[in-house]
Amino acid sequence: MNKIVDVEYERPATCDTRHAWASIPEEPDQERRAELKHLIREALRARNAVLVSHYYVHPDLQDLAEETGGLVADSLEMARFGKRHAATTLVVAGVRFMGETAKILSNDKTVLMPELDANCSLDLGCPVEAFSTFCDAHPDRTVVVYANTSAAVKARSDWVVTSSCAVDIVRHLHQQGQKILWAPDKHLGQYVQSQTGADMLLWRGSCVVHDEFKVQELAALKAQHPDARVLVHPESPAEVIALADMVGSTSGILKAAATLPARTFIVATDNGMMHKLRRLNPDKTFLEAPTAGSSATCRSCAHCPWMAMNGLENLLAVLQDGMNRVEVPAGLAARARVPIERMLDFTAGQGGASGLVPHIGAA
Ligand code: 13P
Ligand code: SF4
Repeated sequence: MNKIVDVEYERPATCDTRHAWASIPEEPDQERRAELKHLIREALRARNAVLVSHYYVHPDLQDLAEETGGLVADSLEMARFGKRHAATTLVVAGVRFMGETAKILSNDKTVLMPELDANCSLDLGCPVEAFSTFCDAHPDRTVVVYANTSAAVKARSDWVVTSSCAVDIVRHLHQQGQKILWAPDKHLGQYVQSQTGADMLLWRGSCVVHDEFKVQELAALKAQHPDARVLVHPESPAEVIALADMVGSTSGILKAAATLPARTFIVATDNGMMHKLRRLNPDKTFLEAPTAGSSATCRSCAHCPWMAMNGLENLLAVLQDGMNRVEVPAGLAARARVPIERMLDFTAGQGGASGLVPHIGAA
């Protein structure tokens, strides 16, 4: 039986709190896991399909993606990989905006997702009608949106960015004298503003996972581990970022863990990242940054409820029956493709975004 989780998120345009749900599959037992993995490998081959997975999904799906010639990556690399790959079917294990981006960039391919209802609080908190009204009120501003948005919001934008290239792209626009309208993540927006000095008007959305990291508890953990380095995803609150030794996207966090001269790291991002971090750095210790203080709720478990919707059973089901196709109407896709391609061209011109933001915090 799936576990149904109620998730509270902010809807900034109407200043209210809404509820969404996530349906989290039960873990199969060892025998069924092995059987499912075997069947998935065969089904991927039979369909000429490739599995593209985000770092936050279940370790089994991450491992399968790599074993079968697919990819485990951040949202920027996922988009680039899917577009270039020769497979005729892309299976995206992540959340809805990642599937939509894959479809927008690869209209000729079939794009499947284990769960089409795997959403994101940033996407849910930025409905296109309210967002368009916001844009219409500020026609003098260049519209920059985070990839964690719907196809319709992307289509209303001038630029799409991910956390691995947001600082570089906004800096570039600022150097050209442009003023920015930014959506939807307020913490990432504030961070980008602090790094670039750009004039940015912010939509005030947040990520239900990263918004929960707690500064006092993080400071206490840091005091217990004085040699540890703190790695923070920039969707976290500013006071948490202020304690970071490095701020960056999921790929940036991986690079920092491999290169910074420390044995212990405190990591403020979804704990799905721990699988890859520990696998690639078996001699290092990774601690989860605290989320809950004394008021633990499901919301503060440091794991995205929508990423958790991806499992082996629903992955096999979509490969077998071809259901859960991501569709984006052609006209909308054509408009949304422009700002996404702009981001891909910009980052390709830089040799690909590093994911690393050279921020040295209070350490
Ligand atoms: P990345 O762009 O770092 O993969 O982050 C996507 C995301 O949803 C983080 O919460
Ligand atoms: Fe969205 Fe946060 Fe989940 Fe990332 S972790 S997909 S930003 S809700």
